[in-house]
Parts: sequence; C-alpha cells; structure tokens
Amino acid sequence: MEYRQLGDTDLKISAITFGAWAIGGWMWGGSERRDAIDAIQASYDQGVTSIDTAPIYGQGLSEEIVGEAIQNVSRDKVQLLTKFGMRWEGTKGALAFKSVDNSGKPIDVYKYAGKESVIRECEDSLRRLRTDYIDLYQIHWPDATTPVAETMEALAQLLKQGKIRAAGVSNYSSALMAEAEKTLSLASNQVPYSMVERTIEEDLVPYCVRNNKAIIAYSPLQRGLLTGKIRPDHFFAPGDHRPGTRHFKPENIRRIGDFLDKLRPLARSKDALLSQLVIRWTLARPGITIALVGARDKEQAIQNAKAANMRLSKEEIAFIAGELKQLELLN
Ligand SMILES: NC(=O)c1ccc[n+]([C@@H]2O[C@H](COP(=O)([O-])OP(=O)(O)OC[C@H]3O[C@@H](n4cnc5c(N)ncnc54)[C@H](OP(=O)(O)O)[C@@H]3O)[C@@H](O)[C@H]2O)c1
Repeated sequence: MEYRQLGDTDLKISAITFGAWAIGGWMWGGSERRDAIDAIQASYDQGVTSIDTAPIYGQGLSEEIVGEAIQNVSRDKVQLLTKFGMRWEGTKGALAFKSVDNSGKPIDVYKYAGKESVIRECEDSLRRLRTDYIDLYQIHWPDATTPVAETMEALAQLLKQGKIRAAGVSNYSSALMAEAEKTLSLASNQVPYSMVERTIEEDLVPYCVRNNKAIIAYSPLQRGLLTGKIRPDHFFAPGDHRPGTRHFKPENIRRIGDFLDKLRPLARSKDALLSQLVIRWTLARPGITIALVGARDKEQAIQNAKAANMRLSKEEIAFIAGELKQLELLN
C-alpha cells in the first residue's frame, strides 16, 4: 500500500481508503453487519489504514460499525475520516431531500453546518466511533444558509481542542474552497471522480494542485458500474439508489459496458481485475491523492486493496485515454 500526505498537514492516509457509505445500508438496499466488519478488517490487513464514513450513512450506523470494526486496533494505526452537515433531526438549514431510514421511516435530510451544530455533531461522531479524535473532519455538502466562515470557525475550534487533526471539505467548488481558506487552511476536498465522471478536471483539480490541497476521489468505481459486473437487467435490492441515477440508465450501462470490454484484455494481460485497473488508473491521475472505494464484503475489500500492487505504464495509460475519448461520455 502507498500512503499519501493530505496537503500541508502531517496526516498521511492510505492511497486506497475504505468508503463506509454502503455498509450503513441506507440508500444501498441494506447491509450485513458481519460482512461490513469483515470487509473493514480485511482491508486493514491489506494495508488500508484509513476509513471514510459520515453520520448520515445509515443515520449513525456506519460510524458505529467502523468503531466496532477497529476497536482492537491501536488508535494511531488507523485514520478515521468522517463528516458533518447532513442532518436528519431538526429542520435548520436547507432541505436537501426526503428519504427513508433503514427501518422505512420517512426522514428529511437538511444541509446544515451552523457552529453549534458542528460542535455537537463532532461529539456524537466521537462517541459512535469510540475515539477521542477524528483524523479528518469534512463538511459533507455546502450549506448555503450558513456563512462559510462560521463553519470554518467551528473547525478551527475543534482543531485547537485536538478533537480533529485536520479539516477538509467535500463537494466544494474551488471558489468555496478559497472562501473557506480565508478562515483556516484546508487539507482536502472529497469529490466525485471516476473514468466516467470527470467534471473536476476542468477547474477543481488545477486549483488543488496549485494550492497543494489533497483530492479524495469518491465513487471511483462509479458505484460498482466500473467493475464490469452490472448489466442492464441487474437486480438491485429495494431502496438501492443506483437504478435512478444517470450512469445506471440502461443505455449508459450498455455504452459503458462496451467501453469496459475494450479494457478487459489489458486487465487480463496484467493478471488484474477490471475493478483493480480502474482504481489504479484513478490513483495515477494528476492531482488525485486518494481513491476512496466502497466495499460491502471481505472479497470486494481485498480485491480493491490489492489494486495498490499493480502499476500502469505510460503506454497503458495512453491506451485507456484513447478508449475514454471514444466513449464520449466524458464530462
Ligand atoms: N462526500 C460525498 O458526498 C460522497 C458521496 C459518495 C461517496 N462518498 C464516499 O466514497 C465512498 C466510495 O464511493 P461509493 O461507495 O459511492 O462508490 P464506489 O466506491 O465507486 O463503489 C462501491 C460499490 O461498488 C461495489 N463494489 C466495490 N468493490 C467491488 C468489487 N471488487 N467487485 C464488485 N463490486 C464491487 C459495491 O456495491 P455492490 O456490491 O452493491 O454492487 C460497493 O458498495 C463511499 O463509501 C463514501 O465513503 C462520499
């Protein structure tokens, strides 16, 4: 495994970081707690020392599972990344969307990052994660109802108190990052990035490279699609959000499937899985610091972690670039 530094901070995390959204079950059609714990522990055994979670993932469940999975690991051997600002209790902030929790109860999700709320959320996360500090604390989504400076002041306070080691953002534009940096120095921005979701290349990547900010690329497998296992008739459990999204429309599954078929011989020649080729490609992209990959069970977790062992030559990267150009699904 490689370990990469987040911006100007002294925080180093594994280049492949475990994404704990799906294991919270919410929006993923449920999850199996035992499988989830095994997945986290198996990836740790492969050198994946960093785990990204959020309170909204299963409304606390994902953080609790992460806390349980690492309870026997020395705290300084793992890095815990979590977030704040997506609230399902209360009505402060801007209504983001309506949903149902894991028990089927309706919930309203608000984007809210007022100072007092951030401080309280941090305490709740520390309790669920069974720890006394968070390595990287990130605002989950921009909150248009709270001044950016107020949210950043809350992070500055938590840094001073030692409750968090580094402050980051997620789903922020470069303009919002610049605004935030008037109050404190950010370590990173966590944003969507995959072979078929490359919007950030235009503006955010150059900004982060120029300013030495880490980019944590989320959903690099495009939520499972880039593993090559999804066909237009794929069965998704009730409550799984994926069938309703752009990339999972049958015509896009077909087009992306054809593209992946062109990459299969390359993966095979390297004795690798398509998913491993995709993760390695992500890590080789300019400005991308971390590939944040979700896994539901031990097998997926080990496969994903092992992507760190392969390398792509210049010629192989150029071949993939050529196929991506033809895909015309580039943003
Ligand atoms: N900040 C944000 O707003 C934000 C948004 C999204 C994600 N994230 C973070 O990024 C992490 C990763 O993103 P993601 O979970 O959306 O997408 P992803 O990493 O692209 O895909 C993960 C999903 O793909 C399938 N999969 C993973 N490895 C596989 C393998 N080796 N073989 C076959 N299938 C495999 C699994 O689902 P199935 O088995 O069900 O197919 C898994 O849940 C999240 O867990 C979360 O921590 C953050």
